[in-house]
Amino acid sequence: MNDIEFIRSTLDDLAIFVRQKYAERGSVSITHKREPNDLVTEVDVAVQEQICDRIAHSFPEDIAVGEENGLNRFPDDPDARAWVIDPIDGTQNFVRGLFPSFGISLALAVGGVPVAGGVAVPGTGDLFLAERGGGAYRNGERIHVSAVDNLSLVRAEVDFSCPADRAATLRQFGELVATVGQVRCHCAAVIGLCSVATGDMDAYVHVSLNPWDYAAGMILVQEAGGKMTRLDGRPLNLFDGGRGVLASNGIMHEALSAVASRVKG
Ligand code: IPD
Ligand code: CA
Ligand code: CA
Repeated sequence: MNDIEFIRSTLDDLAIFVRQKYAERGSVSITHKREPNDLVTEVDVAVQEQICDRIAHSFPEDIAVGEENGLNRFPDDPDARAWVIDPIDGTQNFVRGLFPSFGISLALAVGGVPVAGGVAVPGTGDLFLAERGGGAYRNGERIHVSAVDNLSLVRAEVDFSCPADRAATLRQFGELVATVGQVRCHCAAVIGLCSVATGDMDAYVHVSLNPWDYAAGMILVQEAGGKMTRLDGRPLNLFDGGRGVLASNGIMHEALSAVASRVKG
């Protein structure tokens, strides 16, 4: 099985599992990590374990990086083939039944650059897939970023993140919020990034993301014709230690970066 087929079949299978658990979420066990808003459920852990078992079986030489179970570290060998996993992105939404804006995110990175990735959204049944140079797809249909070319019309997703990031988010993105046409927040990075890839949103910003939050979303945005960098427009490598991200339709990238990288007050 090649890389993208592996991603497709893994996400297809796990979306069924997660959809079932979402229906039963009242009985799912939930704990928190560093602080009470940083939730982890038995489903997050089980999904990551199942993905890791499949990687070990199909690609025993590769390494796994993921949010749970102590895999939240960068690879020692920067050139390694690394599978980057967020078993559930948007755990708060999953637990509370909000929207249903949460997704399973799986990407393969080589040298810190995503070369294939996918996001399953169990709540809607959508499966997003992209391979480097091969375009981005939702349920087999090609997707493209928007053609919006004016800041006053831009629909921007400002991810308000967890309480620890909130003050920095307000400082960093105050001017952006005051400038663009529309502002939304799904509070699930993968949903925000998929929305840029489909052209539903024109931009997504976050002050402090981890690689597993955006590895798959990044290749989806890029292969849909968009751009993703650090806030100041610098190229982004998953394991460069940077935190802020800007994804856009490409047309608006420079203008958005100018506003999003300026901190006032
Ligand atoms: C979170 C979501 C959220 C972002 C947080 C992430 P999780 O991931 O992507 O949108 O603002 O910074 O931690 O915890 O739901 O996997
Ligand atoms: Ca997660
Ligand atoms: Ca996440």
